[in-house]
Amino acid sequence: MQSNSISSRIEGFYRLPRKDRLVTLARMGGLDETEVAELLNPTPLPFEVADHMIENAIGVLGLPLGVGLNFLINGRERLVPMAIEEPSVVAAASFAARLVREAGGFFAEADPSIMIGQIQLVSIEDLEGASQRILKNTGRIIALANSVHPNMLKRGGGARKIELRPLPETPCGPMLVVHILVDVGDAMGANAINGIAEAVAPLLEEISGGEARLKILSNLADQRLARATARIPFPVLATEQFTGEQVARRIEEAWAFAYADPYRAATHNKGIMNGIDAVALATGQDWRGIEAGAHAYAARDGQYRPLSEWRVHNGALIGSIELPLAVGIVGGNLECNPRANFGLRLLRARSARDLAAVMAAVGLAQNFAAVRALATDGIQRGHMALHARGLALAAGATEDIVDQVVEELIASGEIKLSKAREIVASRKDAA
Ligand code: MEV
Repeated sequence: MQSNSISSRIEGFYRLPRKDRLVTLARMGGLDETEVAELLNPTPLPFEVADHMIENAIGVLGLPLGVGLNFLINGRERLVPMAIEEPSVVAAASFAARLVREAGGFFAEADPSIMIGQIQLVSIEDLEGASQRILKNTGRIIALANSVHPNMLKRGGGARKIELRPLPETPCGPMLVVHILVDVGDAMGANAINGIAEAVAPLLEEISGGEARLKILSNLADQRLARATARIPFPVLATEQFTGEQVARRIEEAWAFAYADPYRAATHNKGIMNGIDAVALATGQDWRGIEAGAHAYAARDGQYRPLSEWRVHNGALIGSIELPLAVGIVGGNLECNPRANFGLRLLRARSARDLAAVMAAVGLAQNFAAVRALATDGIQRGHMALHARGLALAAGATEDIVDQVVEELIASGEIKLSKAREIVASRKDAA
């Protein structure tokens, strides 16, 4: 159980050495002793396990694992695991979450975990007649689907509905696509839904008189949407240079740009996915499936649009996001990759829907941080500060001098490793 004293607001966390970060998380109830020990294990994924996960394995790839702080979601403190190679992402999400928590935090929710399985039927002469016959036999089809995964049924999941998508004009002639909608509970559900699609295909052939071809889930999981909102009053948005209202209006203009222009919408959504993918990776999700679903959903009205919306209303900036999030807290990768499970434990994810809701909030936070920076100071300043820190450390700056080296490096206007080495050497000489 999560300790009551947990807070995701930890000032100066980034300044602490790693051990103290872990101790702080442990003290707050975000990690227990075995989890700390597990994280300190230098082998995140033993090669023998990797070798069973994929073919032709030759090694294991590392990625930084960080923790997004300050997240208050539905009144609950959340420590958000984020695995990502890009500097600034974790800091930006935490910064955005800090501003949003001042305004009461995020509100987020997710639909029940309904996945869509598609069965493609070809060689059907009368699409309308076949559709009618399939609908009349819905009970039989659903019963057969549910016989494939009796345990899912016992846990309250199972097949819910049949939907038909006649495609009268494809490049290969007419087709009838049958959607079977299945509540996969706390799993991402790919295996379950694919198994069900394969199991019901022969019955669909019999009823329709057609021939089944593809039997596979759809990654456009639009029956499984997650949403998050935040209301940020003007005073929280004010910067040294701009009033809160000016910042809010500039963010609304940034959103409007993305709404009207797919070239911008792609980048806008990339910023959202920086946060969502980082949580997906840290919690062992199929991030390619999430990406595919997100972008297909973004294009649902025929034009590729932003997944979030930012509007000014009644003295505040109102942000919202909605996207499909097919995620799970059981099954798949999570059963073999111990570190993937670790992220879920840090997050204290209660269900797949809980995880999806958190991810939607993180996506909105990430997007807010990016558009706020872009619409005011630009992002290079913040990026450069982080980059300079990375260079200072790479040049051998120790804890006691790193802040001064970073300052000097930025002031020099030459943010390069050679310059960092020069500054570190002169500091060491002076000491
Ligand atoms: C960079 O990884 C993400 C941004 O480009 C997102 C955006 O432009 O909104 C900063």
